[in-house]
Amino acid sequence: MANDILKGKRGIIFGALDEHSIAWKVAERAAEEGAIFTLTNAPIAMRMGKINDLAAKCNSEIIPADATSVEDLENLVQGSMDKLGGKLDFVLHSIGMSPNVRKSKPYTDLNYDFFQKTVDVSALSFHKVMQTTMKLDAMNEWSSVLALTYIAAQRTFPDYSDMAEAKAMLESIARSFGYHYGSAKHVRVNTISQSPTRTTAGSGVKGFDDFIDFADKMSPLGNASAEDCANYCIAMFSDLTKMVTMQNLMHDGGFSSTGITAKMLGKD
Ligand SMILES: NC(=O)c1ccc[n+]([C@@H]2O[C@H](COP(=O)([O-])OP(=O)(O)OC[C@H]3O[C@@H](n4cnc5c(N)ncnc54)[C@H](O)[C@@H]3O)[C@@H](O)[C@H]2O)c1
Repeated sequence: MANDILKGKRGIIFGALDEHSIAWKVAERAAEEGAIFTLTNAPIAMRMGKINDLAAKCNSEIIPADATSVEDLENLVQGSMDKLGGKLDFVLHSIGMSPNVRKSKPYTDLNYDFFQKTVDVSALSFHKVMQTTMKLDAMNEWSSVLALTYIAAQRTFPDYSDMAEAKAMLESIARSFGYHYGSAKHVRVNTISQSPTRTTAGSGVKGFDDFIDFADKMSPLGNASAEDCANYCIAMFSDLTKMVTMQNLMHDGGFSSTGITAKMLGKD
């Protein structure tokens, strides 16, 4: 179902690790829709992941970058403009990582060095990406910057731990930077709040299988898949959503507006 809605557009896609990654699906769909883009990930993830396969499939080049390093980001953004032949029309920030979650630290006994790493990788990196593109004047007018988030920013999901704080900051950065980028350059900035999805990052959360099952039963449409999320990202990169900015967009099958469901009560 390709309609060339991103034809002629250039972008950067962060965070494709393997075929389960949401960013992987976005890259596949963006290529189908006629976009050209660079792929990037942290150097260590390059060695573990399968990004080369994706690059070959999408006819893309890979520029490694640790999203916490401004120097790496400058190299990535300038390199992307050079390789793609002009300024950018879209950026996907699809990055999340908490050492506290990885090491199963309880929320009431967090390691604060880890906490700062969580925030740096999962939230501050979004600001660093946009500050870099702004300083390099890398985004075209009406271009679209997106990050992926989760509803634990608004409601407590105990095992999501310090990622909840990181996501709250990420969403706030989208609003604050969205104001400045919109006023200065007509660049729009949004977050998409996605259903729980089976990926490397998602599966790191304790009790993930129960969690995904709960969300599915609590969503009138069921959980949104990574492919569904990719389609929404493509819509947000397209000119069809030109006036949407500074929003946290719920992409969750109705979960966020639902109090209780028949399925949850076992009456379905
Ligand atoms: N899977 C879910 O249930 C779910 C739900 C809502 C939102 N999200 C969000 O979607 C985004 C993508 O996650 P995913 O589920 O596709 O998992 P994923 O593990 O496939 O992707 C996370 C990516 O972050 C990258 N990353 C980590 N540290 C980095 C760094 N320092 N620099 C650059 N990249 C770095 C990883 O290498 C990986 O590619 C994340 O922001 C995640 O929080 C996921």
